[in-house]
Amino acid sequence: MLSEREILSGTSKRASLVNRPRRTRRTENLRRMVRETHLSVDNFIYPLFIAESIKEEVEISSMPGVYRWPVERVAREAEAVAALGIPAVLLFGIPDFKDATGTEAYNPNGVVQAAVREIKKAVPELIVITDVCLCEYTDHGHCGVLDASGYVLNDPTLDLLAKMSLSHAEAGADIIAPSDMMDGRIGAIRAALDDGGFENTPIMAYSAKYASGFYGPFREAADSAPAFGDRRSYQMDPPNTREALREVELDIAEGADMIMVKPALAYLDVIARVKDRFDLPLAAYNVSGEYSMLKAAARLGWLDEERVVRESLTAIKRAGADMIITYHAREAARWLKS
Ligand code: PBG
Repeated sequence: MLSEREILSGTSKRASLVNRPRRTRRTENLRRMVRETHLSVDNFIYPLFIAESIKEEVEISSMPGVYRWPVERVAREAEAVAALGIPAVLLFGIPDFKDATGTEAYNPNGVVQAAVREIKKAVPELIVITDVCLCEYTDHGHCGVLDASGYVLNDPTLDLLAKMSLSHAEAGADIIAPSDMMDGRIGAIRAALDDGGFENTPIMAYSAKYASGFYGPFREAADSAPAFGDRRSYQMDPPNTREALREVELDIAEGADMIMVKPALAYLDVIARVKDRFDLPLAAYNVSGEYSMLKAAARLGWLDEERVVRESLTAIKRAGADMIITYHAREAARWLKS
């Protein structure tokens, strides 16, 4: 057995150890100086849920700290987001009335359209991105219109998505973000925006959006769970990455200005591959379930929240995301300031 003294004096050939990565890890300033990835509030996008006919904000039980906002209050919340230095919000609407074709989605006085106007009036410099998808507006909860067998029809859905996008742009949305995963939707939306005189309104395409279990809490938040079946016939199959590259390529060919991978944490390899191959600004969506997992563990005292949130967001950036859509944005912005 070695004595403690023998162990501490070291028996390896110390002099031959030329490379010692630990040399640059010794102090915080050394670590800071050689740090490769920096988290910044500049890259955060904060999602906001706006619900019709509520009088006050309602916390979403599976997403502590995240609320549904009434139209009348959302501008104040947007001001608070902007005051933290967060450059953009992403809006989701929860209408009272739902039907088979999602009529409220393209109502010029719909909940999102009204919220866009309120926010742009109160904080004109804040970038307002709107999610374009029918699932919050259809009574069956699917992202498009259905045939008799319950299959989501692609091409008839495109017209509705285009109408919805145009009505968001007319209300003042700065960026249109389609999340439906229909084939050809970027082209259809681009054409509708151009025809409507919105050729300068960019499209942020949810290009590689997977059929993920991590959307669970969002569906409570947005009241958008499918009434039957699942989304696997339009959202991507989680095991695929080459298909993700193909989806991104198609969206770019159709006119996407920004591309997205969603979810983020379980798909860092996809983010890295997309970043490697394509030059457009790349967003990653750190989705509801990813948020809830860390919140829940932190509440139980099992994880240090600030530490794991910073680590997770940094990982998303390190993988290659330029922008991060995250429910942690408000808190993270505060931590980054201090
Ligand atoms: C709408 C949409 C969803 C999310 C963003 N846009 C839900 C879904 O596809 O079922 C999920 C966001 C999240 O989980 O945070 N289609």
